[in-house]
Amino acid sequence: METNQDGVREHLLVVDVDEYGHNEAEAKIQVRDLVRESDKGVAILSKVNVDIPKGVIMGVIGPSGSGKSTMLRALNRLWEPPKATVFLDGEDICDLDVLGLRRKVGMLFQLPALFEGTVAENIRYGPQLRGKKLSDNEVYKLLALADLDSSLINTPGNELSVGQAQRVALARTLANEPEVLLLDEPTSALDPISTQNIEDVLVKLKKNRGMTMVMVSHSIKQIQRIADMVALLVNGEIVEVLKPDQLSEAKHPMAQRFLQLSS
Ligand SMILES: Nc1ncnc2c1ncn2[C@@H]1O[C@H](COP(=O)(O)OP(=O)(O)O)[C@@H](O)[C@H]1O
Ligand SMILES: [Mg+2]
Repeated sequence: METNQDGVREHLLVVDVDEYGHNEAEAKIQVRDLVRESDKGVAILSKVNVDIPKGVIMGVIGPSGSGKSTMLRALNRLWEPPKATVFLDGEDICDLDVLGLRRKVGMLFQLPALFEGTVAENIRYGPQLRGKKLSDNEVYKLLALADLDSSLINTPGNELSVGQAQRVALARTLANEPEVLLLDEPTSALDPISTQNIEDVLVKLKKNRGMTMVMVSHSIKQIQRIADMVALLVNGEIVEVLKPDQLSEAKHPMAQRFLQLSS
């Protein structure tokens, strides 16, 4: 409490701190009681709650089938979450224009799906939808940002290695100037060098642009290399959020078992 000019005592900082100690004012994404059932009524996600602070890399790990991809896909409405369950900068994402949301919240999958055409055509695709034509120089900058050689600009997408294609997919997403990246096991089909290239790019984007990222990975080592915090998803529920170097302290029995078997 402080006293202001009029002698009225007031809170200078009014912030809610949740059970994980996160400051809600800084949350880029908030997930509140997010549920999803399959068509047959089986729970896929049961009350997922998590805050993703701005400018951090949040890793998501958990057993296969626990709902990691499902959760990620709700965050840019690849499936439509119930109202008032996912918030971006405090706004219910269901109230946002869906294409605008997907520009702000870009996504990368396990296997890059490039469109037919050259690297440059792929990278120009997003801005073109908004009537903006990227100059060659802008395309070169995006290639460099994704750690790709500028000589690739006119290469047809189908002549690239998977590692190069994944970086083109990243450059294509970055062309939309996203604030958040959703990454669903983006390096699990890549060799160690391509994996490292992508990890380096992600860390740079966080450092230089303050980008927020949610990254599903089956590699605990990868999470420990680049994530700032880790959410453990078990049976459609986030059971714990930990620092990457505190994973061995997980309390949930399934999380513990999973961690022991994967390390
Ligand atoms: N559209 C769907 N309809 C029915 N079941 C689904 C659907 N999508 C995912 N599932 C099921 O939900 C569970 C979680 O899937 P997923 O999110 O892909 O898990 P993860 O990414 O953690 O491996 C799995 O049992 C999967 O079979
Ligand atoms: Mg998955």
